[in-house]
Amino acid sequence: MTTPTGFANPWEHVRLYSDGPRNEAMIALLARRAPGARVVEVGCGAGLLACVAARLGARHVLAVEPTPLAEVAARLVAANGLGDIVEVVRARIEDLPPRPVDLAYSELLNADPFAEGLLPAMDAVATWLAPGGRVAPTRLRVWAALARAPSSAREARLARAQVRGIGARYGLAVDTVEACLETRLAYVAATGTEAPVGPPTLVWDLAVGTGARPTPVRVHLPAAEPGPVAGVLLWFAADLDEGLVLGNPPGAGGHWGQLLCAFAEETGLRAGEALTVDLRVDDGFVVATRA
Ligand SMILES: C[S@@+](CC[C@H](N)C(=O)[O-])C[C@H]1O[C@@H](n2cnc3c(N)ncnc32)[C@H](O)[C@@H]1O
Repeated sequence: MTTPTGFANPWEHVRLYSDGPRNEAMIALLARRAPGARVVEVGCGAGLLACVAARLGARHVLAVEPTPLAEVAARLVAANGLGDIVEVVRARIEDLPPRPVDLAYSELLNADPFAEGLLPAMDAVATWLAPGGRVAPTRLRVWAALARAPSSAREARLARAQVRGIGARYGLAVDTVEACLETRLAYVAATGTEAPVGPPTLVWDLAVGTGARPTPVRVHLPAAEPGPVAGVLLWFAADLDEGLVLGNPPGAGGHWGQLLCAFAEETGLRAGEALTVDLRVDDGFVVATRA
């Protein structure tokens, strides 16, 4: 059997369901907004929240999920006798014809908050809203700070040394491999392993469901203390409703972690010295480059 990838792999859902504060924030949104409402969940995964919405009194829940997890969701609905209220549809939201809803919600977030297609998906479903209807999240903010990640540049150096060594041993010209190891390293770091080494700068503040997109920005990120800087750490806050926020700031725990866009080489900075960084979203992914 081949291993399912992405959200077709239940392991992804293990990770998100393990995050109690995330679950509770989503449920709090539903407790406020689902009673009596026509609801659509954009990306219902295994369907738990859609069924919670029904239990909390939603009039109708359309649970949309493009992966085989839609079948798990459908079985959950049937097992709980919620078939009159929760309708599971296997599709991407963008491919469905609009129907009036009072609440369209999703949790299409990741350490890179753009990578799961939150903005286009919520733009699509925003056109479904009945008068007075709302999307959740309503707002997405992203912050950046310089990061010290001692391992990343060291690992890149080690990798290049290994490649050179193996190349020399077997008489191989390894320039192409080395060149690819020289390029931007961006990876998702686990919460707590990479600490910001300067104050955060708000990079993007976007109204979700309005067609807003992150525009390229140039930021000057200061270091609070002297030492090597490996890249930029980014984190988000997604406002679900008044006082209800999903987020992954450093040190907050949770399953997302922060996004570390590590540069190819570390840079030594003095305390108070700033690095100028260009940030953009390219093909759905955050890219950070030194100006
Ligand atoms: C992070 S999971 C959240 C699952 C569930 N909503 C929850 O919060 O427990 C996001 C889900 O959205 C689905 N998804 C991604 N893009 C989608 C799209 N364009 N339309 C509908 N579902 C989508 C994924 O397959 C995945 O199951």
